[in-house]
Amino acid sequence: MKMNWTMTRRRLIAPATGLAVLLFATVSAYPDARVHGSPERGHAIVSRSCAACHGADGNSTNPLFPKLSGQNPDYLYGQLRAFKAGGRQSRIMAPIATDMSDTDMADVASYFARQSIRADQVRDKAGVAAGRHIFYDGANHGATPACAMCHGASAGGMSMMGGMMHGMPMMRGMMAAIPKLNGQHAAYLVRQLQEFASGRRQSMMMNSVAASLTHEEMQNVSDYLADTP
Ligand code: HEC
Ligand code: HEC
Repeated sequence: MKMNWTMTRRRLIAPATGLAVLLFATVSAYPDARVHGSPERGHAIVSRSCAACHGADGNSTNPLFPKLSGQNPDYLYGQLRAFKAGGRQSRIMAPIATDMSDTDMADVASYFARQSIRADQVRDKAGVAAGRHIFYDGANHGATPACAMCHGASAGGMSMMGGMMHGMPMMRGMMAAIPKLNGQHAAYLVRQLQEFASGRRQSMMMNSVAASLTHEEMQNVSDYLADTP
């Protein structure tokens, strides 16, 4: 009787464990991150409370909702804290973040950081090329800095400045919460740039950068990012 129970339980648990290993064995692209939650627990929270809008693996299909897959966990955690405290305003995200504990936030951040982002296909290739130029070289005769200086070539955790400031722990902490932008929905990026430019979304670093861009430049740089995995 007892033996049978153990065997049945084994049979039930073994495949589930295998799946968990498959889902969570991928090493996060952010080895220096300060946020280290439980991706397993994060997965359960996401399935229950976030997947409907952001997608089960963070690849939302509706451009109203940002993709969260492959995002810097320190950034995700920081934004959830900001939604809860009111520093970043969103009628949708405020009540959701208010219901979360610090541990919940760290867990979902760790889960999303381990997922891979899928880029969108952007049709306007001329816009994509113009946007690439802004991202790497800046614009407006130096008034707009190169985005790559802070956001890095691919993952936010690998930014050039992050690298430069590796030996300076205080500066590194400040730079750690820079989001990855590649693969994000263009419509979402444009909207955030507008919010930074108007000051509705506050950021010491982004307010002046966004205010220096024309609407066309915002669209082009966002198209480039959305199109780039
Ligand atoms: C009803 C839809 C909806 C649900 C459910 C939802 N979100 Fe969101 N989320 C949004 C919207 C809309 C935004 C963009 C807010 C803005 O415009 O600033 C957002 C933004 C975010 C951001 C900021 C992303 C960035 O790139 O800055 C994070 C982090 C986030 N959500 C996490 C979560 C988590 C974790 C859950 C589940 C616990 C969740 N969301 C559930 C709609 C939703
Ligand atoms: C000096 C460093 C710096 C530079 C240069 C910079 N950014 Fe940022 N960016 C940041 C930081 C830090 C944040 C996070 C702000 C926050 O915490 O809300 C951010 C956030 C963003 C976001 C919000 C992403 C999201 O998921 O909501 C967008 C969009 C963005 N930046 C676009 C750009 C573009 C486009 C450029 C170049 C024209 C650029 N940034 C240049 C530091 C920088």
